[in-house]
Amino acid sequence: MKRAVYPGSFDPVTFGHLDVIRRAASVFDELTVSILNNKEKKPLFSVEERVKILEKATADIPNVKVDFFSGLLIDYANDNDIHVAIRGLRAITDFEYELQIAQTNRVLSKERLDTMFFTTSLEYAYLSSSSVKEIASFGGDISLCVPDFVADMVYDRYGIKPHTRAQILADRGDLK
Ligand code: PNS
Repeated sequence: MKRAVYPGSFDPVTFGHLDVIRRAASVFDELTVSILNNKEKKPLFSVEERVKILEKATADIPNVKVDFFSGLLIDYANDNDIHVAIRGLRAITDFEYELQIAQTNRVLSKERLDTMFFTTSLEYAYLSSSSVKEIASFGGDISLCVPDFVADMVYDRYGIKPHTRAQILADRGDLK
């Protein structure tokens, strides 16, 4: 059985992540999307909330599992008998950081964990969870960045009222 792990913060999951998840799931028998429980960061959503969000957003992909981890990725992968990590590359600016992590993990794991990169589809190349949060916090439109139910949760977290959300959709010209 070919298995892989896609680690990340996913705070929140974006269409860019979902694109990578879908494509990686088509290459592996089982893909585990695993959320890093990073005590040093102050996330918008708790790990439990992010698990629920990811489960809902990937419900139509049968071979995707959602999990979380703390500590080193190589230990998580080893404990779960996984030998491939998946990461998305949006632009050249991601490359240096990702190359360093991938090489570190390969050496630290004594070559048991390799990293496979998916180049993000062009329409999602500009997306990041941080920019989604910044845009939403100022009441901007994130409906092209995340699924609608995620957008609702993000606006709720920033206290953006439903009438403001309706205005955003109306401005976009597709208020249902
Ligand atoms: O979505 P992100 O925040 O870019 O994901 C980064 C992540 C979770 C892949 C990376 O920080 C990670 O794997 N952290 C776990 C700690 C670890 O294994 N560090 C060693 C590699 S430098």
